[in-house]
Amino acid sequence: MIMYFSASGNSRFVAERLAHTTGDELVCLNDRIKRHDTSELVSDVPFVLVCPIFAWRVPRIVAEHLSRTTLTGSREAYLLVTTCGSSGNAGAWAERDLRERGMTLLGWHTSYMLGDYVAFMQDPDVARAPAVNRRVADELEALAPLVRERRPLPTQEVTVLDRFMSRFANPFFYRHIIGRPGFHVTDACVGCGTCAAVCPLNDIGMHDGGDGHAVPAWGDDCTHCMACVHRCPTQAVEWRDVTVGKARYYNRGEM
Ligand SMILES: Cc1cc2nc3c(=O)[nH]c(=O)nc-3n(C[C@H](O)[C@H](O)[C@H](O)COP(=O)(O)O)c2cc1C
Repeated sequence: MIMYFSASGNSRFVAERLAHTTGDELVCLNDRIKRHDTSELVSDVPFVLVCPIFAWRVPRIVAEHLSRTTLTGSREAYLLVTTCGSSGNAGAWAERDLRERGMTLLGWHTSYMLGDYVAFMQDPDVARAPAVNRRVADELEALAPLVRERRPLPTQEVTVLDRFMSRFANPFFYRHIIGRPGFHVTDACVGCGTCAAVCPLNDIGMHDGGDGHAVPAWGDDCTHCMACVHRCPTQAVEWRDVTVGKARYYNRGEM
């Protein structure tokens, strides 16, 4: 079973490419988190978690959701993360979580995607997306047989800096950046409600904007995933003034 969480499509792309080769069942964790659905998941083959890196580890909303979900059947798992810079020592932290529930991490892998964290990084160079996806798809073709045969994945190098970022920068980032207010809409907003629909935490409510159309308002349960920013059809969602003028990107699997 391949479980994935994805805000801007990169991890969904990886999960779908892997499933295309392994034939594994796909489970979307965005939907389950949004519905508060922690019903049991059952798999006879190793569980594969595919998700973005948030602050050098598996996103907390994903780890917390899975900690409340009973995983039955296989006691083995893989972790495939997508990132645009560094995944730190995310594998070791995931391994620890799995060990606590009596499971074994068979391996972890980082796919380097088109950078789209526009709150902190530069414009995504959208023209490069097909080439990036092709490269990642080729990598996954090579990994898929290992996953199918429950073999270890090639070891990833983890530096002292990686360990530092996952251990110390992660809590700092969560405390000072993630969940901080700043999302708002510009006049380009048409009140369509896409942002509210794609928010995995149901943190965006649509309110009467006065002049006949609804406007979104963000609550205080945001995990900064940027789905609202990238999925807005009129590019009206901004985070502070940092995202202004930057391209938006949702990975639709273009190759
Ligand atoms: C809140 C947040 C934190 C992030 N932290 C990191 C990070 O520590 N290292 C990194 O390389 N990329 C980081 N990113 C970038 C994402 O991991 C990357 O864009 C990922 O491919 C997005 O996956 P998705 O399209 O499936 O949501 C972060 C993105 C977000 C939204």
